[in-house]
Amino acid sequence: MFQLIDHVGFAVSDLEQAVALYEDTFGMPVVHRETVESQGVEAMLLEVGDGHVELLRPLGPDTVVGRFIAKRGEGLHHVAYRVENIDKTLATLRKSGVELIDSEARVGIWGSRVAFLHPTATGGALTELVEPVEGDWRRRGGSR
Ligand code: CO
Repeated sequence: MFQLIDHVGFAVSDLEQAVALYEDTFGMPVVHRETVESQGVEAMLLEVGDGHVELLRPLGPDTVVGRFIAKRGEGLHHVAYRVENIDKTLATLRKSGVELIDSEARVGIWGSRVAFLHPTATGGALTELVEPVEGDWRRRGGSR
């Protein structure tokens, strides 16, 4: 059902400080930066092998990630699996009785199509599904 771990998302208060650690110290290149107003975040994707780390800075305290940091502090926020066809995957999961946050895919970072599964349905971890846009190098297994 899932192709690979597309990214792991971290909630951070200071994006530049986090990037310094991941890029300069860990050696992961930044491959994308985007402000997603609809989700209330500024996001950065850093490459590690075929997967990514996604750093998420809330645009304000009254956003999903802002409330997450206020309640639980900075740190691991979600895990994202890459799927070939997100509509089919969501239909299959719905049939299996998995609780979905997003019943339909929406547009995520980098034009991808994404949907979140409820943490109570996944053993406590917020889980995201990602279908990269057609033609995205990530569809070809990460080799550019
Ligand atoms: Co994500």
